Amino acid sequence: MNQQAEPFLTELARDEREGAAFRQVHVSRPHESAHLHVSGRATYTDDIPLVAGTLHAALGLSAKPHAKIVSMNFEAVRATPGVVAVFTADDIPGANDCGPILHDDPILADGVVQYVGQPMFMVVATSHETARLAARRAQVEYEELPAVLTSQAARAANQSVLPPMRLARGEPAHKIARAPHRDAGELLLGGQEQFYLEGQIAYAVPKDDEGMHVWCSTQHPTEMQHHVAHVLGVASHNVLIECRRMGGGFGGKESQSALFACCAALAAWKLLCPVKLRPDRDDDMMITGKRHDFHYRYEVGYGDDGTIEGVSVDMTSRCGFSADLSGPVMTRAVCHFDNAYWLPDVAIEGFCGKTNTQSNTAFRGFGGPQGAFAIEYIIDNVARSLKLDPLDVRRRNFYGKTERNVTPYGQTVEDNVIHELIDELEATSEYRRRREQVREFNARNTVLKKGIALTPVKFGIAFNVTHFNQAGALVHIYTDGSVLVNHGGTEMGQGLNTKVAQVVAHELGIKFPRVRVTATDTSKVANTSATAASTGSDLNGKAAQDAARQLRDRLATFAADRFGAGQATPGDVIFENDTVYVGETAIPFEEVVAKAYLARVQLWSDGFYATPKLYWDQQKLQGRPFFYYSYGAAVSEVVIDTLTGEMRVLRADALHDVGASLNPALDIGQVEGGFIQGMGWLTTEELWWNAGGKLMTHAPSTYKIPTVNDCPPDLRVRLFNNRNAEDSIHRSKAVGEPPLLLPFSVFFAIRDAIASIGDYAVNPPLNAPATGEEILKAVAAVRAARAGQAGLASGAGSRSHNAASPGVLA
Ligand code: MTE
Ligand code: MOS
Repeated sequence: MNQQAEPFLTELARDEREGAAFRQVHVSRPHESAHLHVSGRATYTDDIPLVAGTLHAALGLSAKPHAKIVSMNFEAVRATPGVVAVFTADDIPGANDCGPILHDDPILADGVVQYVGQPMFMVVATSHETARLAARRAQVEYEELPAVLTSQAARAANQSVLPPMRLARGEPAHKIARAPHRDAGELLLGGQEQFYLEGQIAYAVPKDDEGMHVWCSTQHPTEMQHHVAHVLGVASHNVLIECRRMGGGFGGKESQSALFACCAALAAWKLLCPVKLRPDRDDDMMITGKRHDFHYRYEVGYGDDGTIEGVSVDMTSRCGFSADLSGPVMTRAVCHFDNAYWLPDVAIEGFCGKTNTQSNTAFRGFGGPQGAFAIEYIIDNVARSLKLDPLDVRRRNFYGKTERNVTPYGQTVEDNVIHELIDELEATSEYRRRREQVREFNARNTVLKKGIALTPVKFGIAFNVTHFNQAGALVHIYTDGSVLVNHGGTEMGQGLNTKVAQVVAHELGIKFPRVRVTATDTSKVANTSATAASTGSDLNGKAAQDAARQLRDRLATFAADRFGAGQATPGDVIFENDTVYVGETAIPFEEVVAKAYLARVQLWSDGFYATPKLYWDQQKLQGRPFFYYSYGAAVSEVVIDTLTGEMRVLRADALHDVGASLNPALDIGQVEGGFIQGMGWLTTEELWWNAGGKLMTHAPSTYKIPTVNDCPPDLRVRLFNNRNAEDSIHRSKAVGEPPLLLPFSVFFAIRDAIASIGDYAVNPPLNAPATGEEILKAVAAVRAARAGQAGLASGAGSRSHNAASPGVLA
């Protein structure tokens, strides 16, 4: 890892020198596949030409949330023309498990089903349609068992997939009791379907001598390799997983691509022929887990100016039937409850509720959004209760620069830019003036009401599990001067391959088109981590840089010797603009490469990177889990219709910190995408299970992701001028997940609009997502609370047991 030894100043000097002359990083470039995406020529797993004899699989799904399987009768299935085989758990030669951490995730149900939609068997047929049709003809007899469906029911039954987590500092109970003001309440925050445009898919082709090649849409090829090997009962070196690109993953293909990879591989293994498994959208949504929905109970004590003196939160997540990634998701939630705020006396509890529903999993933000949402809700309440601008209360509680800067989990916040970032956004968004305008509008209008809010983000970057923070890369230079890069990360639309290619081009002083990044392939770079936690370019960019630097060093040594007339040292050789400069001599890059080959210089190299400074004690929930923090903030202005519950975002301004951006165009794309996706989560995307435990919103007909018409007509995204304080790849920062928290501002703007109905004297009991229905309920509750206030002096809000409650403010 020679790049780590290099002092910061040398790196800066290089960046600046090359910046002046020739630079491939910190510049906007289109996504490397943009021309393929828009012309329909980008190859996704389903587009791979089929090998002759390929069969198609479909899964048979449970109709019960919790039941013993008494019998499964496949007579009618097998009788369907075109059906080749039916497989159950009994056919698995190795382990019937695809749990990423715990081994509690059967691939095919083994005697018991634990949610509606759980795969029980697999039908393999000559066509996709036949397999699907036949799968429905199975006769399954169940013996029903009691089912637990919601997080709160799991909590009441003390049913969890993991032991509870507790993190506390100071004396929160005492501080809350002693504080001049107190508030307590409950809140529900919904889950979210990943809704990748390309669904889950795997295509398995048996290879020579127990080999298995699986093309799979996955964020985690190495884990797929391990699972397939375990299922087949073979060593990992027999299994090759390949993924050129995904049509979106968003966390949903981090662990949950495994079931599909394993099933396709199992069928291919048993039948010795290629098998493709591509569930349709409804099955995909019925089978796979989503973002965890959370239920919170909170208590806060605060001063007259809104300073939080003590706070406690008790979070319960709906994990579904198995652990999957619920543990790490809750850990990140616990580590993000503070968001951007100094909480000296705090108690955080996390309960991972086990339910008879899909096993919830990673989704952009990975619990971070769920943790931070709670403190933002609390602060919003505090501000309204004190009749202060929430922005002022937020500022009052921000982490300091040099003091009041230690997180509840013991990490010192060393790179805090939230103060200057908020100052800038407040000014550019004209927050104060627009707040006045909103108030004026609301005074004049009775049906339509406007609201505005500014919310901050601080997001920790790195995997909480220290050993995942490593990556490898391979760089090949061919004799014509073209370069091929392979790294352990996966491309899901975020632009990782573009950034890695930029890093390599920059290092070798060559133009971008010379560099090609190929499919992620477990036989090229081994033991990779999931492309997740937003760390893709941090990790793989550094690994590829390491490989490219070794090549540059070798070429420099060769060029100094060959072209330096006995005068030059390798340090004098400059790589710029497809040219190698040795003193006065300029040699085309491809010529140097061709001559180096003849001189028997190794023209390919591997590279490796391990993120420094990290340590984490999961038992104590203490350490330095994050390498650095990313910051951001957004202001949203909304209008609601108090008769219909409809809502529009009128304008949104986002200012986001990506350090020194590797590619501003891609980063702005990530911020915009994250914003809209988070807005969907908090407004229209509602997951709804019926009393029988069946997810009823399992298709776009009933599950509403934002469309282009829902995007704010005025969306202004800017990148904050910054450099990473840590030695990250070219001082950039991760961008994938943090922007998902920016649309908190949409939710709190909606709440602000609703509050106007009660003269801003009632905290609207608004749960998320703030659907039209939820907005109407909150409007009615505010009106009722206001009426009660006007008449009898009402109590401090009646608390329904599963919803946020209207807190009437004195
Ligand atoms: N952007 C697109 N277009 N598609 C995706 O699936 N996934 C998000 C984010 N941005 C995603 C995306 C998630 S959940 C993560 S963790 C990061 O990208 C992963 O990529 P990175 O680490 O390279 O940023
Ligand atoms: Mo992202 S949720 O870490 O895949």
